[in-house]
Amino acid sequence: MTKIYYFSGTGNSLWSAKKIAQTIGECELFNIGNEVQNSEISIEADTVVFVFPSYAYGLPLAVSRFVKNVIFKTPYLAAFVTYGSSPGGSLAALSRILKKKNINSLFFGRIPAVENYLAMFGPPKAKTLERRLSLQKKATEEAARCILERRVNRVNTVRPFSALVSLLFLLGIKIFYKHYRLSSECNGCGICEKLCPVSAIVMQSGRPVFTKKCEHCQGCVNICPLRAIQFGRVKHGTPGYRHPEISIDELARYEY
Ligand SMILES: Cc1cc2nc3c(=O)[nH]c(=O)nc-3n(C[C@H](O)[C@H](O)[C@H](O)COP(=O)(O)O)c2cc1C
Repeated sequence: MTKIYYFSGTGNSLWSAKKIAQTIGECELFNIGNEVQNSEISIEADTVVFVFPSYAYGLPLAVSRFVKNVIFKTPYLAAFVTYGSSPGGSLAALSRILKKKNINSLFFGRIPAVENYLAMFGPPKAKTLERRLSLQKKATEEAARCILERRVNRVNTVRPFSALVSLLFLLGIKIFYKHYRLSSECNGCGICEKLCPVSAIVMQSGRPVFTKKCEHCQGCVNICPLRAIQFGRVKHGTPGYRHPEISIDELARYEY
C-alpha cells in the first residue's frame, strides 16, 4: 500500500498526487492540511509519497510541521515539489527534517507547474499556462516511474540563501493575513472558508475573516468565484488560477 500526502492551495500538487496515485495503483491520498491538526502521528506503508508546493524556496509551514510530527514506518519515501519558476531549497528543507527519521531509501523530485503567486507575478498568459501544464504532466509521469522503480537520490542540504528567503517568508506570514481586502462583490458564499487547507478563514456575519492560521497558499485569492479577495497585485476582477482539472469540491475535500 502506498500513502500519498499532499498539500495544495490551487490544485497543482493535488493534480500531480492524483495522477501518481492513478499510475501506481493501490494508493490512499491524504490532505496534509487536515492531518496537521493531529500532533504526533505514525505512518505505516510500503511507500510514502509527499507532493507539495514550493513557498519562498522552502516548505509550506503545514508540511514542515506535519513531517516533523510523523513517526515513519516505511522502507521508502519519495517527495515531489511543484513550483512556478525555481523551487530553490524546498527539497533541501524537507531532506533536513527527514535525515532524523531513519528511512533507508529516499527520493526527491521536482515537478514544474503553473506559478500561482498572482500577488507578485500577476496571472499567467495563455501560452505560459499551456506550456507549464504540459511540463507538469511529463514530470508527473516521470515521478510515478521513479516511485515504481524505487529510485533513490540525495539533495544538497546546505542552501543558506534559500533558508534565509524561507525564514523571511515565515516571518511575513505572521502579518500577511492582516492585508487581505474584500471588495464589495463578496456575497459571503463561504467557498474560501471551505477551500482553505489550514482552516484559517472563518465566516463572521456572512463575511470571511482571515486569521493568523493563514499560510498564504493563495487558494482563496485565486479561486474566489467573484474575484472579491484582494492581495498585492490581485485586485477585484484579476483572473485567478486553479489547475484546470481540479474542481473546487476536490480541493475542499479532506480525504479520498
Ligand atoms: C506564497 C507562495 C510562494 C511561492 N514561492 C515559490 C518559489 O519560491 N518558487 C517557485 O518556483 N514557485 C513558488 N510559488 C509557486 C507555487 O509553488 C506553484 O505555483 C505550485 O505549483 C502551487 O501548487 P498548488 O496549486 O498545489 O498550491 C509560490 C507560491 C506561493 C503561493
